[in-house]
Order: sequence, then structure tokens, then C-alpha cells
Amino acid sequence: MKAVITGATSGIGYELTKILCREHGARIVGVGRNRDKLNEVKRELGECFQPMALDLSRFESVNELYREAEVSLGEVDLLVNNAGFGLYKKITEHTAEELASLITVNFTTPLLLTIKMLPLMKKNSTVVFVITAGVHVLMQSLPVYGASKAGLHYAVKALRRELSERGVNVLAVYPGVVKTSFHSRAGSEIGEGLDPGKVAREIIRAIEEKKKELYVPRYLSLAKVLTLILPPFRGPAKETGS
Ligand SMILES: NC(=O)c1ccc[n+]([C@@H]2O[C@H](COP(=O)([O-])OP(=O)(O)OC[C@H]3O[C@@H](n4cnc5c(N)ncnc54)[C@H](OP(=O)(O)O)[C@@H]3O)[C@@H](O)[C@H]2O)c1
Repeated sequence: MKAVITGATSGIGYELTKILCREHGARIVGVGRNRDKLNEVKRELGECFQPMALDLSRFESVNELYREAEVSLGEVDLLVNNAGFGLYKKITEHTAEELASLITVNFTTPLLLTIKMLPLMKKNSTVVFVITAGVHVLMQSLPVYGASKAGLHYAVKALRRELSERGVNVLAVYPGVVKTSFHSRAGSEIGEGLDPGKVAREIIRAIEEKKKELYVPRYLSLAKVLTLILPPFRGPAKETGS
């Protein structure tokens, strides 16, 4: 299997990269900004991992990643749009740069990257979008993040129909709270959360089974029907930001 994975330096993307390399014999081009971490993953996984240091808030990164995938892999069986970030802030507290970056990294780049990679995607290949189960509630403490992911959720539904005509499967992943650096980077701490390794294994199973969507844990799919009566998600109690 030949794969491109964004956000391979941490959390869910790192776990996916590790398991696919070690247990599935995958060759992976893995993206992140943190060069030290990319080099660490390269030392840990060896030949199967091709690190690519890119900031996905820059549109040029999409072209650079395409060229690297073309040279290193030639064709692609799996594209995982996983990189993303949030900010525990009210909408009125965001700067223009924060708004632009959240929308670019979480919404625009995953779509652009998918469009760009299509010529390399084999028939029966899969594109994964890591969204969030939070799209079904009002994410009051992460509102712009929630909006960016809700936009992605909407776009992916339409994209799935377009890509099915080309024989490319689309898997939308909706995790609950996962214990990764996402929350501390976003300006808060979480208590309990899902193990990112477990989330990664569920994603791999869903790819193998050609699923269209995956909720982790599975009962969160109920949020789809409970969306009208669920209270807003207010986030962890111990927020560090104002
Ligand atoms: N953790 C949760 O509770 C949770 C729940 C639902 C959905 N999700 C989603 O799951 C995905 C993975 O998050 P995670 O929990 O694994 O978080 P994480 O541990 O913070 O990992 C985020 C990854 O995204 C990369 N990334 C972020 N901004 C980037 C940028 N501008 N350019 C390139 N890479 C960038 C990071 O790379 P560098 O550090 O190297 O820049 C890192 O590898 C995200 O899309 C997130 O929204 C997370």
C-alpha cells in the first residue's frame, strides 16, 4: 500500500503511520511541520517512511506534497487528510490570521489536496477525512474549529458522490475526544479521552471494509439523530484561556 498522511508527527496521524508501516507494509509520505519529530519518526520507522516538512496553511504546500508523492510513490492507494488544529476561543476573540489559518488547514487544504492528488489515486483507492463528532452539536468553546469541520463534513458528502464516479472511496471519520496534544495546543486540558492508537486501528478497519463513515466510539453516530436536542458542547471544565 502507498499512502500520504497529513499530521503524521503526532496523535492519530502518527499512530496511523506507525501501524500502517509496521503491520501493513505500507510506504508512506508523512507530513508535519515539526522537523525534529519527522526525523524521529523516520529513525523509528526507517525505509517505509518518507518525511515531508510542510505548513498546510500555505497553498503551495499542496503542490509540493503532490510532487513528492509522484516521485516517491508514483501512485497512491490511500490519502489521509488528518492534520488539523483548534483554538479554545470565542469567535469574537479570533484574529484575522487565526480565522484564516483554521479555515485553511481544517477545510480548504484537505479539499485542495484531494483534488490535486486525484491523478495519482488508483481505482478503488481511499481518501480519508478526519472530521469530528462535534459537527453534530454546537461546539461553543471551539466555535471556529467547529465551523471549519462542519464545512468539511458538508463538502465531503458532496465529494463522495463525485469521487465514486472515479472509483475512489471516501471515508469520513468522526472521533469523540481523543487524548492527543490537540487540546493543549488549542489552549485547554482534557481529562479522559480515547486512545489515539485505538482510533487509528478503527480507521484502518473502516478503510479495509470500504466504509463511508466511522464514528469512534460507534455510539456517537447517535449524535446524527440527537443533534436537535443535544446541549452545546462547552468543552473541558479546566479551560486555561479566558
Ligand atoms: N484530539 C481530539 O479530541 C480530536 C477529536 C476529533 C477530531 N480530531 C481531529 O483529528 C485530527 C488529528 O488531531 P490529533 O488529535 O491527532 O491532534 P495532534 O496530536 O495535535 O496532531 C495534529 C497533527 O496535525 C499537524 N498539523 C497541524 N497544523 C498543521 C499545519 N499547519 N501544517 C502541517 N501539519 C499540521 C501536526 O503537525 P506538526 O505538529 O508537525 O505541525 C500534527 O501532526 C485533527 O484533524 C483533529 O481536528 C481530534
